Amino acid sequence: MMMKRTCITGTGSYLPEKILTNADLEKMVDTSDEWITTRTGIRERRIAAEGEHTSDLATEAARRALTMAGVAPEELDLIIVATVTGDFSWPATACLVQHNLQAKRAFAFDISAACSGFLYGLSIADSYLRAGTAKKVLLIGAEVFSRIVDWKDRGTCILFGDGAGAAVLETGGEDRGLLSCHLHTEGGCWPLLYQMGQGSRNPADGGGCEPSNPFVQMQGNEVFKVAVRSLCEAGEEALVANKMAAADVDLLIPHQANRRILEATAKRLGIPPERVVVNVDRVGNTSAASIPIALDEAHRSGRVKQGDVLLLNAFGGGFTWGAVLLRW
Ligand code: ACO
Repeated sequence: MMMKRTCITGTGSYLPEKILTNADLEKMVDTSDEWITTRTGIRERRIAAEGEHTSDLATEAARRALTMAGVAPEELDLIIVATVTGDFSWPATACLVQHNLQAKRAFAFDISAACSGFLYGLSIADSYLRAGTAKKVLLIGAEVFSRIVDWKDRGTCILFGDGAGAAVLETGGEDRGLLSCHLHTEGGCWPLLYQMGQGSRNPADGGGCEPSNPFVQMQGNEVFKVAVRSLCEAGEEALVANKMAAADVDLLIPHQANRRILEATAKRLGIPPERVVVNVDRVGNTSAASIPIALDEAHRSGRVKQGDVLLLNAFGGGFTWGAVLLRW
């Protein structure tokens, strides 16, 4: 019997209205448009409005994906939100989205895998769908990084942006859908990229034994080196597992960390620039939201054709990384 594969039946994304350009950043920190574009390829990013929260971005992206899929919120069995900038420590942002959508039948939870969150989410959704425990899953990547970066730290604040992307997943055809997911973790590298936040190491009463800096902490050049190597390895692993070569990939949709990382990865994998989806110049690094935003933009602009082989890859805090191969 042929296996029924998990298919993406709808995509959606939402970017906040406010644009923060490199010229705006020049007025905030000691930087230049030239430095930012050369090192990162980022020209502008979106910033959530006051009072606009991660769950709001997630809900809007979700509505667009549900409309495209022709799925009503009450048909959903499961809602997963990948985020490290949720509305609260808890409850999960997915619970707030479940309420916003009035998706009464769905159970909902968040996953924390930083920039790899959407790929981790795809793997979880796939497992529920294959097991038959869920028939319709809504997966969202949503982040409001503008509220956790230090706007005085030029090394980090120039990189990130806010946004959300969503996908509706259902069990679909035999000849298309998710082919395989390859996920990895290296927990020992956490000090290279993290945010302390509130937790057992930083108790609510302020009596933590660790120095408490509330903002994103990052050793950028260390992250860069490991990211390129790991992204290539995961991409190759996915191709080998499916007996494919770089030439079989119609579109690479990478996590949009910065242009240098994604160009270096594509080059090493042997995928030419015209087959790589890039929107980092307009949205910056939106962490878990980045792949579903790029996927939705590519899909809506007609770049993704039925039967196309898509390779998605991501790297982020944890360290977490991975690749997913699918046939559209
Ligand atoms: N404007 C001007 N100068 C800057 C800026 C800035 N915004 N930021 C740093 N500099 C300076 C530094 O202070 C340093 O100056 P010094 O030599 O006088 O000390 C110099 O530029 C070089 O700094 P580096 O950190 O070595 O610069 P690098 O070439 O590594 O570029 C960057 C920094 C863009 C952060 C790069 O390391 C990078 O892209 N790393 C990957 C990080 C990343 O993408 N993180 C996101 C999360 S993980 C992920 O999504 C994959």
